[in-house]
Amino acid sequence: MSDIRTVGVLGAGTMGNGIAHVFARSGFAVRLCEVEQRFLDRGVETIRKNLEREAAKHKITSEEVAAAIGRIQGTLDRKSLAGCDFVIEAATEKFEIKRQIFSDLDGILPKHVILASNTSSISITKLAAQTMRPEQVIGMHFFNPVPVMKLVEVIRGLQTSQATYDVVKALAEKLGKTPVEVNDAPGFVSNRVLMPLLNEAMYAVMEGVATPEAVDEVFKQGMAHPMGPLTLADFIGLDVCLDIMRVLHDGLGDPKYRPCPLLIKMVDAGWLGRKNGRGFYKYE
Ligand code: 3HC
Repeated sequence: MSDIRTVGVLGAGTMGNGIAHVFARSGFAVRLCEVEQRFLDRGVETIRKNLEREAAKHKITSEEVAAAIGRIQGTLDRKSLAGCDFVIEAATEKFEIKRQIFSDLDGILPKHVILASNTSSISITKLAAQTMRPEQVIGMHFFNPVPVMKLVEVIRGLQTSQATYDVVKALAEKLGKTPVEVNDAPGFVSNRVLMPLLNEAMYAVMEGVATPEAVDEVFKQGMAHPMGPLTLADFIGLDVCLDIMRVLHDGLGDPKYRPCPLLIKMVDAGWLGRKNGRGFYKYE
């Protein structure tokens, strides 16, 4: 664990830039890898804005903002992760994309390096099987917004070693997070329980039981949730919610995990939630 100084982060989207943010703030050198320059630029810009938001609230100094940004080096070349001591993948939630990434990384990185995935539902065991180092593959699942949320779900694949688990648990603690151990199963614990709630809230809207505003108010006022389930679905991304429901439905085989038809329709329409301005609500 003390040997980990340089961390590779694949993907600079919502989760990837948050993960790069927290590693850089904790003193690690970060190589942030994307497939296109515009995604990289957008990710680094988001990190800068979020760090400046913390500085504006006097939680950190402007020198600490500059130091954290200075620790992040962007790259479009996966091979340049070769010098990293630990790599975490936070790419799109599609098995085919992640399969390719794990297979590539296995060829690029020295044998001792741990490969982690921030996947929200895909099997860690299956990702590990794309590599020659299944003992060193693990799930490290952060929560949005990453700089704020304390939880890291640490997921053991079938072959994940105890040594790998111990390193990742200690790493999460070094980031100021609270690791929670879970075993590999579709959606792990977080999304197996959360997503059916959001999906059911969508059914309530689709069936005309209540408006999105009313459903959200029930959860905010009645259950003290910081965001109602439809606001939260927009915040997570409706495409991500649909991907996760499909993993639950396919993996667990129970019709209770059937994605809500309204969710499918909205994703088909390109309404992906807060990130592109339209979901259950409209955003500026
Ligand atoms: N970076 C840094 N700081 C941030 C931030 C970000 N991206 N977003 C918010 N913050 C900080 C704010 O600066 C503020 O700091 P302060 O307390 O010192 O003033 C604090 O967080 C609260 O933010 P706001 O005052 O702007 O707004 P809210 O009080 O409404 O809180 C929220 C925003 C923290 C997002 C809150 O609404 C919340 O907790 N929502 C639920 C989030 C949630 O459930 N996330 C999990 C999603 S599931 C997931 O990620 C798993 C995946 O697999 C699907």
